[in-house]
Parts: sequence; structure tokens; C-alpha cells
Amino acid sequence: MTRETTDPASTPIPIPRELAAALSSARRVVALTGAGVSAESGVPTFRDALTGLWARFDPLELATPSAFARHPKLVWDWYAARREAVRAARPNAGHRALVEIERRTPSFLLATQNVDGLHARAGSRSLVELHGSLARVRCSREGRIVDRFDEPQDDEPPRCPHCGAFLRPDVVWFEEPLPADALARAEDGARRCDLMIVAGTSAEVYPAAALPRQAKAAGAMVVEVNPHETPLSAVVDIVLRQRSGIALPALVAAAWPGHGGDPAPGVSSARAAGGGAK
Ligand code: OAD
Repeated sequence: MTRETTDPASTPIPIPRELAAALSSARRVVALTGAGVSAESGVPTFRDALTGLWARFDPLELATPSAFARHPKLVWDWYAARREAVRAARPNAGHRALVEIERRTPSFLLATQNVDGLHARAGSRSLVELHGSLARVRCSREGRIVDRFDEPQDDEPPRCPHCGAFLRPDVVWFEEPLPADALARAEDGARRCDLMIVAGTSAEVYPAAALPRQAKAAGAMVVEVNPHETPLSAVVDIVLRQRSGIALPALVAAAWPGHGGDPAPGVSSARAAGGGAK
């Protein structure tokens, strides 16, 4: 006898009416995204057991200034490999749904922790990259962005054409501050939005993880889109226990019926969907 199991994370879910209404009537919407939003594009997350990058690699050996000081070539090569991998990836339905929301909302800001550039490639315009971008390279001494450099042939990273210091990826490492202007824009958005959509983040890395709490404290409705529970799940108003590539198009379709985007399930009156009742 064959026993069938269903994967709850691939089953369409209903969108609560009040969420659809809140999105379609919101003046200011902020989305905070993390690695989960790119998972359906084939980009690995960080903390998912087995498949997450930090399950296979030690962040202290790859994503800190001291790691770069100890093993600059190892760190350079790891980021170069990730840069190549994301170049081959394509935006998914979740990225596209966020573009739709931006198009239909008077004021929208997308604050992402992702460094893969997929939101911009999907067409998001009002975008803050809190943790930098894999696509950019900067001087490790002066911080200057460098557009042209030769890939190294030897056992060192390429060097800055201006000062000769090693080049490094323009991403935020552990122990480093976020770009001040990016964080200020995200915090301002969080304080002023009517609705915040938090998608695909484990909400474990600060200060990004504080943004949903700031939005909630300022009176916004906060919705989490994540197939798994996070520390935020108990704090937000509505949980969509689903992959972002399914839940976000469903949210767009529910807020603006007949918009003609990615196919998505309908609307329900349930307060929370997919088992995340609050
Ligand atoms: P994490 O890997 O910590 O969390 C990814 C989250 O995405 C988890 O909660 C998953 O349950 C969820 N997830 C997985 N697949 C999903 C899907 N298809 N749809 C929606 N959600 C899904 O990634 P981040 O929260 O982004 O920082 O991690 C934050 C920061 O930690 C990263 O920016 C990076 C990392 O160290 C730096 O490198 C500075």
C-alpha cells in the first residue's frame, strides 16, 4: 500500500480577508526579506538545517573581517563562487509579487538582507540592501567601490587599482555595522508604514530583525511569510505558513483580484492561514 504525504509548504493557502484589505488600502508598505525569498530560485539560505550555508560552512571562517585578514583568498573565492551562483539564478514568483505590490502601493520600501541582487533583477525599484551586494567589490582599506579588476591568478585576492590593498566583496560581515543610510531608510520606513510584510527571514540577525518590532510598536499590521516558525511568529499579527513563491502571489491576487499576475489561491475569512493562527 502506498501512503501519501502532503507537503504543507507546497499547498496553496487562503489569505485572510483582513490582510488582503489592509494591503489594498495601505498607504505605506514595507517589506523585509531574507534568504528564504531566494530559496525557490535555488540560492541556499543560511540557517536551514542541512541546506543552509551555515550548516556547511563556518561563518567565523568566511564572513568576518578577521577571517579575511587570516585567509583573504579563501574568503574571496567563497564569495566569488556565490557571485557566480546567483548570476545563474533567476528571480522567482515571490520576487515578482513584491514588484507588483510596489507598483500598486502609494509608498513602498523593500528592505532586504539578501546580497544576491534578485529583487533588483525582478524589477524592484524602491530597494534598500541592508547587507550590501555580492555584485559589488570594494577596497578593503578605503572602502571605494571598484568596477574593474582582474580575477587573481595566484593565491591572493585582486588588489585595489588605486591603493594596492586587497579588494573584498561589498557585503556586511559579522562584527561590522550596516550601511548607515540603508539602515536609516529601513528604520524610517518601519516607523511610518501601515503594513509590514516579513518574508523568508529567520529574524535572528540584528538590527534587521528589530524592524518588524519597530513597525508593530508604531502601530503597523505585521505579517510573516515563512514555512517555519521564527522568533517573530509570536509577535506578528498574521502568519502565512507557506513559501514566499506561493504566499506572496496569493497575497497580491487576494488584495487586487483580477490583476493577472502569477496564479494564486483565493481569499478566506480565516484570521491566520496555514496553521499560524495568532
Ligand atoms: P536564514 O537562513 O537565517 O533564514 C531563512 C529563513 O527563510 C528561514 O526562517 C526559513 O524557514 C525561511 N525559508 C526557507 N525557504 C523559504 C521559502 N521558500 N519561502 C519563505 N521562507 C523560506 O536567512 P536570513 O534570515 O536572511 O547575513 O539571515 C539573515 C542574515 O544572516 C543574512 O543576511 C546573512 C546571514 O548570516 C550576513 O551575511 C551579514
